[in-house]
Amino acid sequence: MDHQHLAPIGRTAAGALLAIGFLAAGSADALPLHPCLEAGASCSLREIATAAGVRIGAAAQPANLSEPLYAETLAREFNSITAENQMKWPEIHPAEANYDFAPADALVAFAQANDMTMRGHTLLWANPLRIPAWVSAAPDAETLRAWLENHIETVVTRYAGTVDSWDVINEPLQNFSSDLYDNVFLDLLGEDYIAEAFHIAHAADPTAELFLNEVLVEEPNARFDAFYDLVAGLVADGVPIHGVGLQGHIVAGIIQPGGIGLREVIEAFADLGLVVEITEFDVTMSANGPAALEIQAGIYAELLSACLDLAACRGITFWGFTDAHTWINGTFGPGRVPLPFDEEYLPKPAYDAARQALLGRLAAVPELNGLALAAMIAFAVAAGARRRR
Ligand code: XIL
Repeated sequence: MDHQHLAPIGRTAAGALLAIGFLAAGSADALPLHPCLEAGASCSLREIATAAGVRIGAAAQPANLSEPLYAETLAREFNSITAENQMKWPEIHPAEANYDFAPADALVAFAQANDMTMRGHTLLWANPLRIPAWVSAAPDAETLRAWLENHIETVVTRYAGTVDSWDVINEPLQNFSSDLYDNVFLDLLGEDYIAEAFHIAHAADPTAELFLNEVLVEEPNARFDAFYDLVAGLVADGVPIHGVGLQGHIVAGIIQPGGIGLREVIEAFADLGLVVEITEFDVTMSANGPAALEIQAGIYAELLSACLDLAACRGITFWGFTDAHTWINGTFGPGRVPLPFDEEYLPKPAYDAARQALLGRLAAVPELNGLALAAMIAFAVAAGARRRR
């Protein structure tokens, strides 16, 4: 990720200062730790993630930004935002000649004012129920292709510079099946519609990282195999795909992949040369109360550290951040408390678990900690000497 504030601190002036501190200390006993790793430090999720060079994000709704605690918590704890709905095709492009950018623009303005980056979600949600009726009524392949080009070019170009990664296609597979969604794009353009969408997005913003985002593929199973084959096929065909998004909508005890399975999935994509992000994490509980919150924290710890322990994992985005505003209330009913902050914006045990997982990633950043720092300094000193000669 080349967005400046997500760069590992070791490549920044602060990193150079740490390196100088290390040289001055001069002994392995005095290896500097990042301040967030020191005992008693109280860094936010954002401070830790930014220092470690990873994304920590939340889906947000522009209507909530007027709530002071919502806006303060979002800006303090996260370095990235996803528009929960406002960049989806039906919302941003409701009719052929009509784009409605204002709600998405409000989130972009908030992100820019607070030096945050954004994930773009999503250029095309493949579920036919999520495709506007006017698009589904396309008369022929030529027209549909022109609409797809216009849509992707217009949206990607508008948000270039703030959106660093796009979910080009969301949910290519039918829920609970291994088949592609049957939609107007499959009907008129064939399976190639997926590759075409990536090519159009890449041409519109060559610096954006392009993702295929999917649900229910967080552990090896038949659905994962189908998704993997789809992704591997795109890579083999030279399609500009850079990453895979694992949504991560967990339902405790029911849809609950384990850390070991998640690692296998991430490593499989890493072996294809791709990065992985968890893009919509939430953990739905069937009860609220101290015991449930501890179980939830355990699930957060297991899955978030499984991701963050692997270099190919580039970050985590929660689908919301406060139990006061979560789509789960509308889907499963209230009281399922899936997010790291409670309804009063107080951090829950799940928050502490996410924080520990991020601290684990920070501790593993070689430029900041351990002997790799000494090797880096020796290399830099030698390079400097060579330049002076
Ligand atoms: C959800 C939003 O959270 C809801 O507000 C909306 O009514 C429906 O969409 N997977 C996705 C997201 O990829 O886009 C969905 O977001 C949640 C499931």
